[in-house]
Amino acid sequence: MRGMAKTNRMRKFCTVTVIGLLGALLLSGCAGDEKTAEGKKLYNHYCSHCHGESGQQAEGFNWERMPDPRPKNLASEAEMSTFSDEEIFHTISREMRDTSDPKVLEDMEYFAVPTMPTFKYTLSEEEIWHIVAYVRTLHGMSLTYDLEARHKELEQMLQAAQQEMDEAKAAFEAAQAKVEAEQAAKEEAMTDEQLENYEPEEVEIPEEEVFLQASVKFDKTKAAFDGFLKRPKKAQVPRPDLTISEEALAKQVEIGKAIYSQKYGCHGCHSLNDEGGLVGPALDRAGFRLNPTWIYRWILYPQSMKKHTRMPNLGISTEDAKALTYYLGTLRAPKSEAPVTSVE
Ligand code: HEC
Ligand code: HEC
Repeated sequence: MRGMAKTNRMRKFCTVTVIGLLGALLLSGCAGDEKTAEGKKLYNHYCSHCHGESGQQAEGFNWERMPDPRPKNLASEAEMSTFSDEEIFHTISREMRDTSDPKVLEDMEYFAVPTMPTFKYTLSEEEIWHIVAYVRTLHGMSLTYDLEARHKELEQMLQAAQQEMDEAKAAFEAAQAKVEAEQAAKEEAMTDEQLENYEPEEVEIPEEEVFLQASVKFDKTKAAFDGFLKRPKKAQVPRPDLTISEEALAKQVEIGKAIYSQKYGCHGCHSLNDEGGLVGPALDRAGFRLNPTWIYRWILYPQSMKKHTRMPNLGISTEDAKALTYYLGTLRAPKSEAPVTSVE
């Protein structure tokens, strides 16, 4: 009985709130539409080949060619309502599997199935939230995550990090000045003879480490703040040194082959021997057709060579990029591929 009364009260509360919300929605509706429209454009460009234009399974042209597990039905409220906005965001914006630990590389079972690429290194945080907002509409829901609050939170974090760094810097400079003053006083008290044979010892200033850490934290916070509105941008990838001994090469090719399918999910978009995705060109003859330095630069930063390419920047480490480059260099299938549109 008490439960019933509570439900009724809840209902009343909800009705009143919903009427209030409707007003707010009407007011903010236009801005929301614009964001969702932006999300739709990005979705169609970066996601629809795998997920389908309306989010239905088996709709995207790449669907048949993806390995298991295939994506859920993004158009199903029953399936998608179990995900929070943040979880959907995290699926689109995350690190690919970290294999910097050598133990992990040996354990072939360790990898998750990374066919879903990350867009963390390709799009701004705001753009990814717009995509999440659009994905929500595919199953009849809408984004409840508060973007404005997130932007403010990042700004406050930046201010706090700035203050922490300033304070750490002041503390370090004060400690440094104190050490220097003590040193000067010590030398002042020495005879000329003592001074001549004197070597001042290195004094460690603990405040220096604190200052360094505060600077690193500030840089990270600044990058997160900038990355909210702006797409990640890197400096031009420098020319790599790809010289390598015969034995080392064999090991690198093996690593490259493993991470091609198990860490970065290249095979979700590219095919070999007619197996794998159709989003990018087949790579059977990559070793003949493409220059290793070009491959290395392309996989580290595709957007610097072709701004709107559908191949995302996967946040690949330089070591992994080398291993992948060596591996692609071995792909030299004798017969010619079906004609494909390739990078200009
Ligand atoms: C290369 C194909 C591919 C592309 C491109 C791709 N996805 Fe996925 N996506 C997948 C696969 C495969 C899964 C399932 C992964 C799993 O279950 O481990 C997935 C999972 C998801 C999920 C979680 C639901 C589920 O099935 O587990 C969401 C949400 C999602 N993708 C959204 C997107 C959005 C948004 C984009 C574009 C920004 C995108 N994906 C681009 C292949 C892709
Ligand atoms: C979401 C799909 C996707 C993923 C994941 C992906 N690529 Fe691509 N890739 C493309 C597309 C699309 C192109 C064609 C570039 C263009 O014209 O925009 C391309 C182009 C390339 C090319 C140039 C091919 C040529 O013939 O010109 C290479 C090499 C390449 N990708 C390697 C990789 C490697 C290695 C990985 C994994 C680390 C990878 N790709 C992951 C979509 C993808």
